[in-house]
Amino acid sequence: MKSFIYNGQPARVVFGAGSLQHLAREIDALGAKKALVLSTPEQQASAEMVANLLGSRAAGVFARAVMHVPIETARVALDMARVLGADCAVAIGGGSTTGLGKAIALDSGLPILAIPTTYAGSEMTPIYGITEAGMKKTGRDPRVVPRVVIYDPELTLGLPLAMSVTSGINAIAHAAEGLYATDSNPVMNLMAKEGMAAIARALPAIKEVANDLQARSDALYGAWLCGTVLGNVGMALHHKLCHTLGGSFNLPHAETHTIVLPHSLAYNAAAAPDAMRVIAEALGGSSAAQAVFDLAKNNGAPTALKDIGMHEVDLDKAAGIAMQNQYPNPRPLERVALRQLLQDAFDGVRPNR
Ligand SMILES: NC(=O)c1ccc[n+]([C@@H]2O[C@H](COP(=O)([O-])OP(=O)(O)OC[C@H]3O[C@@H](n4cnc5c(N)ncnc54)[C@H](O)[C@@H]3O)[C@@H](O)[C@H]2O)c1
Repeated sequence: MKSFIYNGQPARVVFGAGSLQHLAREIDALGAKKALVLSTPEQQASAEMVANLLGSRAAGVFARAVMHVPIETARVALDMARVLGADCAVAIGGGSTTGLGKAIALDSGLPILAIPTTYAGSEMTPIYGITEAGMKKTGRDPRVVPRVVIYDPELTLGLPLAMSVTSGINAIAHAAEGLYATDSNPVMNLMAKEGMAAIARALPAIKEVANDLQARSDALYGAWLCGTVLGNVGMALHHKLCHTLGGSFNLPHAETHTIVLPHSLAYNAAAAPDAMRVIAEALGGSSAAQAVFDLAKNNGAPTALKDIGMHEVDLDKAAGIAMQNQYPNPRPLERVALRQLLQDAFDGVRPNR
């Protein structure tokens, strides 16, 4: 076994159907008295429901979270927290809402309690992203890790199928790249395998019956494990490519991960055979790249960048940006092969290995 360093993240996890009922207890355990509840405009009703549940422990609702965390939004939310005397924030929603909570925590040190309703996994990571003057800055800071995470699968019953599948494969991407991270460790490898397997068995069941609570529990459990991997070890080619495609070409986050992952895995396949074997086993296939592609296609997710707003003329530019910053990856970054990877993702071809 190779030598490793393992850093546990300090978050407390409360998991299970109906666990939202423990919210007030968890606020008390944090030593907090009043929570500002955060959500997107689309999930305002959920935020109001949470505020009602909190009763006198609710300071108010800020339902203006949006993608990429504009710094202006974070400032307005923090001002509102101060005016209302909030001493913690509750973020109910996906990665965009958790991201707003993180921006508030970074600036103010307010403790965040996250209630994830997608499988993006941001709640388990010290990674934050804030957009200022059109540029998204990302960084790592332990202060942004939510102090408590309540995973209640009942809150995900209404996550639309398309978003469930792409968000689930977004989570699988964290685990898959964690397996070949230069700073990987055996604990994260266990979590990665278990997390991918839980999501791979959940998605077809959710496709059959959207409100299958057992399948929703499996998916959220997998999201927790995969998010933990993302928070603990470094990501490689796949995450950097998706960051480029999202940031420079404004492609949607989870869909981009879903489409690119099979091709990133095919690119790295020969250089990381042990990781590929684990991914294929977890997904019940014989090839990691093909198993991810099939999971997406069989469950109705997009498989081609051309179908989510990418323009073919931009593929050269994307390859150029991806080559600019070198970073650890099992296979060195080769421009011609990277350009071909992007072409395959653009066309949506099934990887041939
Ligand atoms: N910092 C990190 O570690 C990290 C990790 C993963 C993702 N992210 C960031 O998170 C963002 C993407 O997050 P996301 O994929 O969760 O999407 P999102 O948070 O942007 O949510 C997309 C939409 O789905 C809605 N939604 C969420 N849960 C729902 C539910 N259960 N039912 C119905 N609608 C629901 C949201 O309100 C929103 O309108 C990206 O900006 C990405 O960069 C950050």
